[in-house]
Amino acid sequence: MSAPTATDAKQVPLSAASRTLVDAVRTRYATKAYDANRRLAPEQLDALLTLLRSSPSSVNSQPWHFLVAASDEARDRIAARLEGNFAYNASKVRDASHVVVLCARQRMDDQHLADVLAQEQKDGRFASDEARENQRKSRQSYVNLHRYEQKDEQHWMEKQVYLAAGTLLLGAAALGVDATPIEGFDFRTIDEEFGLRAQGYSSVVMVALGYHSDTDFNAQLPKSRLPQEQVITVL
Ligand SMILES: Cc1cc2nc3c(=O)[nH]c(=O)nc-3n(C[C@H](O)[C@H](O)[C@H](O)COP(=O)(O)O)c2cc1C
Repeated sequence: MSAPTATDAKQVPLSAASRTLVDAVRTRYATKAYDANRRLAPEQLDALLTLLRSSPSSVNSQPWHFLVAASDEARDRIAARLEGNFAYNASKVRDASHVVVLCARQRMDDQHLADVLAQEQKDGRFASDEARENQRKSRQSYVNLHRYEQKDEQHWMEKQVYLAAGTLLLGAAALGVDATPIEGFDFRTIDEEFGLRAQGYSSVVMVALGYHSDTDFNAQLPKSRLPQEQVITVL
């Protein structure tokens, strides 16, 4: 008898929940105008913050911090910094319910690595001291690779932050919350506004969250993506 092939494997049909998720992703869109009178429910915000914190990162490095502008004042502080070419993003930030500023660490320093290892220990990840030491060494080897060989430590950390942004956008779609990823801002001025660099971080991308207003032109436009055969190859 020949070995089973992938086509012999049991086919599991999409559950209703999976179909709902796919529909949510297909219908989500970058919101251009928010209804300033609508706010996320506390449970929705909690769920989104859990998704952010649970996002995967290379060697579980979690090289991030997430600033959540929940008050009018906090959102106004961000909006006031969206000037010049970026002024088109200011009203989104002012009228959204919440704005998350996703920040990357400036350095993957020894204290951070020790903190991550201690948390993993506390969370019961290691059956022995040897297991913990193996994890420490493995993580350090990746840090060294990016720091000394590829020389892209900062870029590597930012890539992890984008994964968190993707997780947040997917979660917002699944929860029926409108969202806008925002790269159109001056990182220096946002870093200054919140004293981020002094705390070892710098801003990377923002995500506005809330509910679109009736004036949002983008709500009516069809989604546009390159065809499947152009972007996906199944081998
Ligand atoms: C990393 C990133 C940065 C973006 N920055 C902005 C932005 O500053 N302002 C804005 O209105 N839209 C921004 N967008 C929205 C994109 O233009 C939008 O996601 C893209 O056109 C696809 O459309 P859809 O999200 O509506 O499907 C950004 C999207 C991503 C993923």
